[in-house]
Amino acid sequence: MGERMKLALIGFGVVGQGLARILLDKADELRNEQQFTGEIVAVATRSRGTLYQPNGLSIPKLLDAIGRGSLNQYPDEARLARNQDILTLIRECSADAVVECTHTDFQSGQPAADYCAAALESGKHVVLANKGPVAVAYAELRALAAKTGKRLLFEATVMAGTPCIRLAQTALAGCRIEEARGILNGTTNYILTQMEGGLSYADALADAQRLGYAEADPTADVSGRDAVGKLLILSQALFNRKLTIDQVAMTGITGITPADIEAARAAGERYKLIARVSREGCSVRPERIPTSDPLAAVSGATNAITYQTDLLGPVTLVGAGAGGIQTGFGLLADLLALPQ
Ligand SMILES: NC(=O)c1ccc[n+]([C@@H]2O[C@H](COP(=O)([O-])OP(=O)(O)OC[C@H]3O[C@@H](n4cnc5c(N)ncnc54)[C@H](OP(=O)(O)O)[C@@H]3O)[C@@H](O)[C@H]2O)c1
Repeated sequence: MGERMKLALIGFGVVGQGLARILLDKADELRNEQQFTGEIVAVATRSRGTLYQPNGLSIPKLLDAIGRGSLNQYPDEARLARNQDILTLIRECSADAVVECTHTDFQSGQPAADYCAAALESGKHVVLANKGPVAVAYAELRALAAKTGKRLLFEATVMAGTPCIRLAQTALAGCRIEEARGILNGTTNYILTQMEGGLSYADALADAQRLGYAEADPTADVSGRDAVGKLLILSQALFNRKLTIDQVAMTGITGITPADIEAARAAGERYKLIARVSREGCSVRPERIPTSDPLAAVSGATNAITYQTDLLGPVTLVGAGAGGIQTGFGLLADLLALPQ
């Protein structure tokens, strides 16, 4: 593959554009310090068109086109193909790696799981921000990757680019991880932090929506479902154990009142939405933890995870859990880890 890696970006929203922006802004640094050049040859969206240019697409023109609403705004040029069927595009394009950053579906993992399978079957590495295929179809996709000699990497699916998967699988290799417990959803942590500052749940949620942390429909975050999805991924990555969403005990934060927050504070504790996973199982629920716990100090939309290990005891990682650039970096870290 040389030092130029050809990429197909499936999904070109906040995260896909974040990765493109990094590849553009850090092109010199990546080339000089990492001997890496990412060249985007294909981009696909659901409703804004697809593009394939075997000679490489211009990132400024891509960002300009999507900024104007559609990849169809990308200027015509020789060998440029538009609006292909996405599975055909994935199979037939010349990319070395497919970057999957379409919509997450925790029930079926689709259509992204099919996109990943098509990529692996056609000899391409797969790097994901999309949680669905890892949560639902990891074993099948991993077997396919082993069969085709390609890699399936997913650092960006949990805690954006904060390297919680690589820390566990690489830096802590040789330690036995007994349990992971973390704050894996920034929206709910932001809401709980604001409630500690005196806001009601409704006002804190409105604040989170105004700042773009929470969706117009915040159910996936506040119910705990988003954190559960991340636990499914951690269960696979840390313990090689497949769980389904209904196997996880889940309680969200909608029942937490200012009185609960105050009672915790009076006892020297804080409420956090804690996601836990071990070989025995997993849960997501609001827990009162002592202020001396490193997770208690994690405020706002920040994420954190503590790995309980046999040789080091607890190891805590704190960092961004969302954002286009932050998640784009998670994808970049995986791309840099691919064999060149
Ligand atoms: N944003 C974050 O901070 C963050 C962090 C970690 C992980 N993630 C995950 O990363 C993924 C992308 O997130 P995002 O924030 O970039 O979402 P987004 O802004 O909504 O963008 C999603 C992109 O995927 C495309 N898409 C959706 N369904 C598709 C399909 N069936 N086939 C082809 N393309 C499809 C969309 O096309 P249209 O524009 O035509 O709809 C759009 O280009 C999600 O799975 C998300 O859970 C996001």
